[in-house]
Amino acid sequence: MSLISIAHPDFRSDLLHAAKRRSLVYANQILLTAKAYPAELEKKLTLADGRELVVRPIRPDDEPMIKGMFYSFSEQTKYLRYHGTLKSLPHNRLQVFCNVDYDAEMALVVTHGEGGHAEIIGVGRYLTLPDTRTAEMAFVIRDDWQRQGLGTHLFQRLAEIAGRSGIRQFHADVLPENSGMLKIFHRSGLNTETVTDEGVVRVTIRLQE
Ligand SMILES: CC(C)(COP(=O)(O)OP(=O)(O)OC[C@H]1O[C@@H](n2cnc3c(N)ncnc32)[C@H](O)[C@@H]1OP(=O)(O)O)[C@@H](O)C(=O)NCCC(=O)NCCS
Repeated sequence: MSLISIAHPDFRSDLLHAAKRRSLVYANQILLTAKAYPAELEKKLTLADGRELVVRPIRPDDEPMIKGMFYSFSEQTKYLRYHGTLKSLPHNRLQVFCNVDYDAEMALVVTHGEGGHAEIIGVGRYLTLPDTRTAEMAFVIRDDWQRQGLGTHLFQRLAEIAGRSGIRQFHADVLPENSGMLKIFHRSGLNTETVTDEGVVRVTIRLQE
């Protein structure tokens, strides 16, 4: 999948079919072909303690690492992120998470380590609504990497990318006890409104006035 996802979009469908015939990928593997992988969005991030990470757009071949991260989440992290709606992550769900069109849907992952030791330790994403000016956003950081500034960094990166794509506002549904998430939004310096409905805080963050 790594090679297919970085091939020219015109050739990806043929390559995927060839890989399916040879049983190199799942028979129901999907691949969105709208836009080439935006390699220019890959950036290094150095933490205050000197550890080096990479923040980059998600790719279809990230599936095993996303799966590894999901099954490492504490119950609390899963609950705060998915509000109790996602208990397992089979391939048909995972591939939807890992295949984005880098246009209406964007996801950035944070990776630590290299080669066979690389792991994904956080992911943030947005998906535009039909009006194309509003996007739903959410993110999650692996438990042992929380409170080190990654959530703040991912939010800033996604807000910049969305702003450049003409998105005017983000919506996020946050549980009221999620003080970390609410703090990130409120201290972003952006205009933020909250409405609480049926136990969920709907936050609207304006990227452009
Ligand atoms: C919420 C979340 C994304 C924040 O990411 P993070 O990398 O831990 O955030 P940061 O390190 O940038 O922290 C931002 C601020 O929130 C605080 N914070 C983070 N997690 C917190 C928590 N569980 N409780 C209280 N404060 C918290 C941090 O201490 C920091 O404040 P400070 O600078 O005053 O110390 C992360 O904790 C997470 O994945 N939580 C579970 C999933 C989730 O809630 N997703 C959001 C659904 S929309």
